Amino acid sequence: MARITLRQLLDHAAERQYGVPAFNINNMEQVLAIMAAAREVDAPVILQASRGARSYANDIMLAAMVDAAERIYPEIPICLHLDHGNEEATCATALQHGFTSVMMDGSLEADGKTAADYDYNLAITRRVVDMAHWVGASVEGELGVLGSLEHGGGEQEDGHGVEGALDQAQLLTDPDQAVDFVNRTKVDALAIAMGTSHGAYKFSRRPDGAILAMNIVREIHARLPDTHLVMHGSSSVPQELQEIFNEFGGAMPQTWGVPVEEIQAGIRHGVRKVNIDTDCRLAMAAQFRKVAQQNRSEFDPRKFLKPAMDAMKALCRERYEAFGTAGNASRIKVLPLAEMARRYRNGSLDPQIGASVQAAQ
Ligand code: G3H
Ligand code: 13P
Ligand code: ZN
Repeated sequence: MARITLRQLLDHAAERQYGVPAFNINNMEQVLAIMAAAREVDAPVILQASRGARSYANDIMLAAMVDAAERIYPEIPICLHLDHGNEEATCATALQHGFTSVMMDGSLEADGKTAADYDYNLAITRRVVDMAHWVGASVEGELGVLGSLEHGGGEQEDGHGVEGALDQAQLLTDPDQAVDFVNRTKVDALAIAMGTSHGAYKFSRRPDGAILAMNIVREIHARLPDTHLVMHGSSSVPQELQEIFNEFGGAMPQTWGVPVEEIQAGIRHGVRKVNIDTDCRLAMAAQFRKVAQQNRSEFDPRKFLKPAMDAMKALCRERYEAFGTAGNASRIKVLPLAEMARRYRNGSLDPQIGASVQAAQ
C-alpha cells in the first residue's frame, strides 16, 4: 500500500472519531513491533523519527526499514513523520527521504532549547507548510512550549526542550492565538501545550486538572473544530512497566504519566495524533533488565530483543485498541502524494477536516 500522509490519515480519524498513536522509531525491532501490533488489530500506523533517530539510524536506513515494513505489511497504511523538526532544512531533507509528513516545531528556536517568539514560529511554520504542500506532504506545527505545570520548568530530560523556567502563558497554548496560528500557517495538525512533557518524569502524582490541563484541549477544539490536535508527551508510564524495570535492578523513582482515560477524553475533543516514545522505551528496557538479571550468562542479543519486541508489541496493541485506531486500516484508500499536492493547490483541502475523507473510505 502507498505511504499515507498525516493529513489524509487524520482526516479519516476525525471523520470516524478515533485517535492514532504516533510511535517513535529508531531501529528495526521497534518498527516490527509497531507493525505486528497494527496487523493484529487492523490499525493504520504513524511511524515518527526524531532528529536523534535520524542521526542514530541514518536516513537511508530509516527509509529502507519503512520500505520493508510496507512490503511485509502491505495492508497497513503507514505515515512516516518527522518528529520535532527544528528548521526548514531538517524538514526538507526528511521529505527527500520519503517522509510524508513533517513537524516544524517553531515553539523553540533552531537550537531546540530557547523558547521562540510568536512571529518567529508563525513565519518559519508558514514557510515549511508552503514547501511541504507543494509535494503533497503534511505539516504539524506547535504552539505553546512543553513543560511542567507542577514546577513551571521546561523539559530537559530528553536532551531537548527549554532550559529553565517558563511562565504559565508559555506552558498553556492560548486558544485565541491558536485560531490565528492555524489560519495563517495552514498547518494540517496542531500540537498544543497543556502540561505534558517528554520522558518518564512528567508528574510526581497522579495528574489532575491542575497539572494536566485537559480544559485547554476542549477550549481549542471548541474554537477550531476542524483542526486536528496533537498531544505530545503522551506516554502513560504504566505502573506495571515501572515495577518490572525496578524489580530487575532498575532505579526509576515512582512517577506518573498521562492516563489513557485522559487521552481518550482528548480524542473526544479533537485530539487525533498521540505521541508515544517513553512507554515503548520502558517496555523494551524492562525486558532487557529482566533477561540480563535472570540469565546472567546470556549474550545473544536476540534473546534480549525478542522479549523486548513482544512487550512493545503488546503496548502498541493496547493503545490501538484504546484510541479506536483498531479496525480502520482496511477502511482507508490511500491517496498518492501527487493527488494531495493537487488538492492543496486548488484549495480543496481548506477547511481542514473532510477534504480527503471521501476518497479514503
Ligand atoms: O521528542 C521526543 C521523543 O521522545 C524523541 O526523543 O530525541 O531522544 O529521539 P529523541
Ligand atoms: P513521551 O516521552 O511521553 O513518550 O512523548 C513522546 C513525544 O512527544 C515525541 O514527540
Ligand atoms: Zn514531542
